[in-house]
Amino acid sequence: MNYNLLKGKKGVIFGALNEQSIAWKVAEKAVEQGAIITLTNTPIAVRMGEVDELSKKLNCEIIPADATSVEDLQEVFRRSMEVLGGPVDFVLHSIGMLPNVRKRRTYDDLDYDMLDKTLDISAVSFHKMIQVAKKMNAVAEYGSIVALSYVAAQRTFFGYNDMADAKALLESIARSFGYIYGREKNVRINTISQSPTPTTAGSGVKGMDKLMDFADRMSPLGNASADECADYCVMMFSDFTRKVTMQNLFHDGGFSSVGMSLRAMATYQKGLEEYMDAEGNIIYG
Ligand SMILES: NC(=O)c1ccc[n+]([C@@H]2O[C@H](COP(=O)([O-])OP(=O)(O)OC[C@H]3O[C@@H](n4cnc5c(N)ncnc54)[C@H](O)[C@@H]3O)[C@@H](O)[C@H]2O)c1
Repeated sequence: MNYNLLKGKKGVIFGALNEQSIAWKVAEKAVEQGAIITLTNTPIAVRMGEVDELSKKLNCEIIPADATSVEDLQEVFRRSMEVLGGPVDFVLHSIGMLPNVRKRRTYDDLDYDMLDKTLDISAVSFHKMIQVAKKMNAVAEYGSIVALSYVAAQRTFFGYNDMADAKALLESIARSFGYIYGREKNVRINTISQSPTPTTAGSGVKGMDKLMDFADRMSPLGNASADECADYCVMMFSDFTRKVTMQNLFHDGGFSSVGMSLRAMATYQKGLEEYMDAEGNIIYG
């Protein structure tokens, strides 16, 4: 539905790779709500992925950049301000790379070069992005910067490995930089902690299908989809959230507040029959 929530706003979206990507959905919804945007991803993702298709559909420019390179980030913001006509109102960091997880290196046998890469791409790039933008005055007053996180930053999840450390750092950067950017320019910085979602990055996590099933059973509202995550991002870019900053916002159907649900518990039993009333309705209490 079009509410024109982002009418007149300009934004930069990092991380759209294919139609499954959360950033892809955010780009579509941001434009649908009236924004003009630029897209950026690594040169290889731009060559090999389907971003070109998205840029044609949304009539926006793609700026190839490695988010770990300060020079590349400077070019992203320089060019974005040029084509969009001034400082941007929102930035999405939707970037992750988990080499130790992909290579099945366990947490007690990490490859440290891969750990450096994980932290640099998945977390430090957020700091670099914000620092570059601030120095270039590339984000307008009352702008909104959002990165995507996962609940493994707070609690341990089998198979998520060193990516949990990267997410903890990512969320900390949002708080530390949120203070400075808020005080000086009224720019807000938040992370959205999203349900497990079937994407290219998500598929790297061991047992992802089972994790998704478990999370879905645990969450009273069920897992949040990439589309729903995009709606939340749009809300965070809009003027309706002007005083929300330095937060890690759970967008997970309630998962993070549940210790055990009936549906999860029932997977260890034959079924839900013993928890139903005479009419066959499940008693959740
Ligand atoms: N999929 C999930 O289950 C899930 C859950 C919570 C949070 N997230 C987070 O959402 C974000 C987006 O991931 P996704 O699930 O949409 O997967 P995705 O694979 O579609 O997106 C990851 C993106 O990161 C980009 N990227 C990798 N290295 C980069 C670099 N050096 N510079 C610039 N871009 C680079 C990739 O090209 C890709 O576009 C990630 O931060 C991820 O951790 C995902």
